[in-house]
Amino acid sequence: MVLAVSEITREVDHAFLLIGGVSLFLLLGVTVAMVWFVAKYHRSHHKTTKQIKGHTLLEIVWIVIPTIIVIWMFFVGYEGFALMRNAPSDSMLVRVTGQKWSWSFEYVDRGLTSDKLFVPVNKPVKLLLTAPKGDVIHSFYIPDFRVKEDVLPERETTMWFEAEREGTYHIFCAEYCGKGHSEMRSELIVLSEDDYREWVNGRLAQRNKPLEIPGVLDPKHPMFDKLGGDRLYRSYCASCHGEKGDGSGLPDARAFFLTEGWKKGRKLTDIYRTLTEGVKGTQMRAFPQLSRWERFALAHRVQAFFKAAAPKDTDDDVKKLVTEYKLDQQLAPQKSIPVEDAMKALLKESGATSKDGDDG
Ligand code: CUA
Repeated sequence: MVLAVSEITREVDHAFLLIGGVSLFLLLGVTVAMVWFVAKYHRSHHKTTKQIKGHTLLEIVWIVIPTIIVIWMFFVGYEGFALMRNAPSDSMLVRVTGQKWSWSFEYVDRGLTSDKLFVPVNKPVKLLLTAPKGDVIHSFYIPDFRVKEDVLPERETTMWFEAEREGTYHIFCAEYCGKGHSEMRSELIVLSEDDYREWVNGRLAQRNKPLEIPGVLDPKHPMFDKLGGDRLYRSYCASCHGEKGDGSGLPDARAFFLTEGWKKGRKLTDIYRTLTEGVKGTQMRAFPQLSRWERFALAHRVQAFFKAAAPKDTDDDVKKLVTEYKLDQQLAPQKSIPVEDAMKALLKESGATSKDGDDG
């Protein structure tokens, strides 16, 4: 048997094997006894039927033993359930959004986002699961960790796990949620503590990196190679707009090769705006979790669908966008501080003083 990756995995497997084992034992026991009795009491050697009255000892035995087995099953199951329901208080928090049809992850204390779930090994991780308003019910499922939880629009459900082994694990949507259900997959990547820190720092650096204007208008900029526009497109756009950009994913999704009817326009700067703000009154939502570079990588990818007809951005267009979104400025790194400290900092800033003294 493969080594379990978490305590919950062990608990669930234990309950599963116990219940499965007892069921198998009973199935075989009942079947063997039945076949044996059929042969033993066949009419050819038992012409008359003997009347049997009650047998107290036998009755007590078949009431007491199954009762004990059932209670035993309940407690084994309950133990696993209680473990699943009680996340350790030092858990790392990750907000998970499930929507038609992708998963996104927000690392609450880091101000980071990703389309795959990265976690350090041997650290409890608590997931806060939700879906946006107007979406449908999904179900977040990590088979190797034996955890699964419904994800509901405008409500928050939770789940937790602690990975004991580094590696890459599947994430599925386990609730049929429409056309793109089977594509609603992601990965859980468990890293060593050092690798995880390196990943966080790399992401922060990338996120806060100012855009190089006008280098960013060049689709051949090495940064776009690194970001992988195709991969981003598949993660964030393809489920609605189709792998080929033909709008085949949703009934009213835009086909990118049609040049008319673009609400915000077809220039790179226009597409950047669309990605940043979404389009009101349509299913096109904003993607605040994407870094500025990622948004431009996606804008290039989308524009590639209408290559010959791609409009050129003027210097004015770019200038306007840069001022509007402060694209040339380094973003301040988001510090990760505990909530109590943040509250204290806020109180200090507003000039309020705590009457019952500072305990820090
Ligand atoms: Cu989301 Cu199935």
